[in-house]
Amino acid sequence: MEMIKTTWTKEQVQEMIDREKLAYQKIDLPYGLSTGQGNDRSITSEKIFADSIKGKSVLDIGCSLGFFCQEAVRQGASRVIGVDADDERLRKAALIADCVGMARNIEFRQLDINTEDLTEQYDIILLLNVLHHIRNPIAVLDKLIAHTKQRLILEVVSPSSPKLKNTLKSMGYSWWTRRKFEKMPLIFVKKGGAAAKTNEEIFHFTAPAVNELLMEHRGCFARLDLLKSFKNHYIAIAWKRQVDNLVIIGGTASSGKTTFIDSIKRGELSEIASQIGINIKDNWTYTDAEDIKSIKKEKIQNVVYHYDILRTFDSTSYRYSIEQGMDIVDCASRRKVVTLWCDPQVLRQRLPSTANNDQRHWRQLRISNVMELYQNEKLLAQQYQKWLDFCQQKGVQLFFVDCTSRPRLMSHSEWDQKIKDLMERV
Ligand SMILES: C[S@@+](CC[C@H](N)C(=O)[O-])C[C@H]1O[C@@H](n2cnc3c(N)ncnc32)[C@H](O)[C@@H]1O
Repeated sequence: MEMIKTTWTKEQVQEMIDREKLAYQKIDLPYGLSTGQGNDRSITSEKIFADSIKGKSVLDIGCSLGFFCQEAVRQGASRVIGVDADDERLRKAALIADCVGMARNIEFRQLDINTEDLTEQYDIILLLNVLHHIRNPIAVLDKLIAHTKQRLILEVVSPSSPKLKNTLKSMGYSWWTRRKFEKMPLIFVKKGGAAAKTNEEIFHFTAPAVNELLMEHRGCFARLDLLKSFKNHYIAIAWKRQVDNLVIIGGTASSGKTTFIDSIKRGELSEIASQIGINIKDNWTYTDAEDIKSIKKEKIQNVVYHYDILRTFDSTSYRYSIEQGMDIVDCASRRKVVTLWCDPQVLRQRLPSTANNDQRHWRQLRISNVMELYQNEKLLAQQYQKWLDFCQQKGVQLFFVDCTSRPRLMSHSEWDQKIKDLMERV
C-alpha cells in the first residue's frame, strides 16, 4: 500500500474516526488506519480508471466521502471536483481529503443535480450509484451528456438488487421471468419520497435500457462499455465522439447530396472543395446519421457528414436540437455546414424516380409527404429557415451550394434571396 503523506498525528486521525460516522465508502487513512465502515470500492475504481485519466478534468457527482475524487487525483487527473447534495457528506469529504494530504487537489462543492445546472464541461463525469435517487433521471442524463467532453461513467443499481427483487417476487414473477426482464430495455419505477434523504431506490435501469438511452436515443457516443461491479451493480462507460473537423453536407431529399459528395471524393469539384476546406488528400471519413453508428472509434479527425435536413420533417421530434443525427455537431471542434439548394421544380422532377424504385409502404408514404412539401414552396422555405436557425444557433460556419445543375457556390445573400422568393410564391 502506498504511504499516505499527512500533517495529522495518529491521535488526530483516530479521533476523527471515533468522532465522525464515516459510512458508505471505505477509505484508507494514514498510519494504516481506515474509515472502517462502508464498501471497499477499489474494484470499481480499477474498472472506471482502467483507461488513463492523466491530465484530465474529472467531475464526481454524488461524491459522498470523496473516495473516487481521491482515486482520480492518484491517477493523475489535472483537476478534480466532487459535488454532492448533502453538505454534511461534503464536510466529511473535505476533512478526509485534508487528512490524506489532498485538501489542495480536490474542490468540493454543494450541488443538487436535480435542480442546478453545470456551468462548464469536464473531460470525465462520474455518476456512481446516484441515478436511482434522481427525480428526473433522463433530464439529468441529458444535462450530463451536454457537459461531458470524453467519458460519461455511470454505476447503476441493477434490477436484481434485493429490494426490487423482493417486490417482483411478491408480485409473483418467477426467477426465470425476472432474468428475462434484465435482458429487456426496462426502467422499474418504485415508490419513493425524499429520495436523497432516505437513500431509497426509486428507479432501476436494466443495462439494455442504459444502452438504448445513450446509444440509440442519442447520437453523440461512439461506444458503451458495460462492466460488472460490486453486488448487483454494473458500470456503464459511454465514450463521446470527438471530431476535429466536421463538414455537414445538408440538403433536402433528392437535392443532390450523394452526387455532390461523390464528385468531391473523385476530386472533380476541387475549387468548391478547397473553398469549404476539404482537401481529399487528407484522411476524410464519409458517413451519415445512420452509418456513423457503426464507427466505434471515439476520435475521428475529419468527417464529411451526409445529412437529410428533412429528418425532422413529418417526424414526431420536429426540432433539430433534439434530433439524434444532429448530436454530432456538439462533438466537433471545427464545424462547417454546406447547405445545398435545388430549384423546387427540379426537386419535384427528381423525387418520383426515387419512389418508383422502392415499393415499401412507409417509403412511398414518406415520398408522397415530401412531394407535398415540394409543392408547397412556402412550407419548404420555412423548413430551410428552421435548418438555418439551428445552424446559426450552433455557431457553425455556413456555405451554400446551388445543385440545380452543375454545383456552384452561392453567397449567403443569394441564398436569402432564394428563400425570400419561395416565401412570396403562392
Ligand atoms: C449511494 S451514494 C453514492 C456515493 C458514491 N458516488 C459512490 O458510488 O460511492 C449517493 C450519493 O449521491 C448523493 N446525491 C443524491 N442525490 C443527489 C443529487 N440530486 N445531487 C447531488 N448528489 C446527490 C447523496 O448525498 C450520496 O452522497
